[in-house]
Amino acid sequence: MKAAITSLACHVPERIVTNDELAQKVETSDEWIYSHTGIRERRYAAPGESASDLGVIAGRRALEQAHADPDSIDLVICATSTPDYLTFPATACVIQDRLGLSNAGAFDLQAGCTGFAYGVEMARSLVEAGGAGRVLLIGTEVLTSITNWEDRATCILFGDGAGAVLVEASDADRARTGHTIVASWLRSKGSGGPALIRQAGGSREPFEDGRHAARDLLLAMNGKQVYLFAVDAIVQTITALSERVGKTPDDVDWIVPHQANSRIIEAAAKRLRLPVERFYLNVDRYANTSAASIPIALEEMVSTGALKSGQTVLTVGFGAGLTYGGNVLDW
Ligand code: UT7
Repeated sequence: MKAAITSLACHVPERIVTNDELAQKVETSDEWIYSHTGIRERRYAAPGESASDLGVIAGRRALEQAHADPDSIDLVICATSTPDYLTFPATACVIQDRLGLSNAGAFDLQAGCTGFAYGVEMARSLVEAGGAGRVLLIGTEVLTSITNWEDRATCILFGDGAGAVLVEASDADRARTGHTIVASWLRSKGSGGPALIRQAGGSREPFEDGRHAARDLLLAMNGKQVYLFAVDAIVQTITALSERVGKTPDDVDWIVPHQANSRIIEAAAKRLRLPVERFYLNVDRYANTSAASIPIALEEMVSTGALKSGQTVLTVGFGAGLTYGGNVLDW
């Protein structure tokens, strides 16, 4: 028995923020942002809108699409770096309650921007081992809640959004066999952790008035270090995953990378000698939505017809941890 993705949905907030709008409050320009990142605009959550608010909408859509009885869901996994609360209750529990999933367990998964790839593998393993019948996996982020608006090198990079998938046995509903999760490959390089960090507020450095500034609670990044790591991580993941399924990277129809920066993708494509067109990119319109970026991209590919039944998809995540890895999906 193989596990498969049997529905896929996403939700992004209505508010579009262009580079020009950002340039009104930060010393930057559309030219700099686009040439350094490939980003033109991103979506921002409304004031007071949280990760669970976005995740509930994406999750509900995924359940409706599959005509899934809420009582049939065994587990909710929420991949997020911007949970509703620090650190409990888990955002997955908030979502479980709001979706009325009364027979489900729920937990949050923290693997930075690789959270969705990790979540797919957790769901696959549980379903194939018989530990869960139906898993609702949601990647949801309100990165604007941890953005340091005084740091122009990071505040331009991020956006808000959510994506959700239902994972179950591929033969659970014979009318719809779903998209098989063929293999995964997950790695961590914890030594690089300080390159992408929220310094204070945890048990290492509890926030202390007078000792910490408010910015110590926000996202801080060494852009150059993360850039170099990311290019390497993409190359390693694509090479290892295609080997694992007995293919070459050339045999894969689509590579769906975490949408961080088009320059990172171009550099990795060059290193792998793959045409950059093989990589699906929508970072221009959504910027970096961390754990939500891969399902948002997949959903767009399906709705525009770019991703067709029978194609092989390789997803690649990389981010805080530092973590990296991906999944191979038979679409
Ligand atoms: O999920 C993973 C998340 N992380 C990432 O994807 C980030 C990976 N890193 C990057 O994408 C790039 O390092 C950045 C886009 C963040 C920065 O690009 P860079 O080419 O590494 O720029 P830099 O930090 O070396 O800065 C170059 C110059 C500096 O000016 P000086 O010192 O040369 O005069 C910066 O002050 O660009 C300046 N700069 C900006 N100028 C206008 C930095 N940010 C901005 C900005 N607008 N927003």
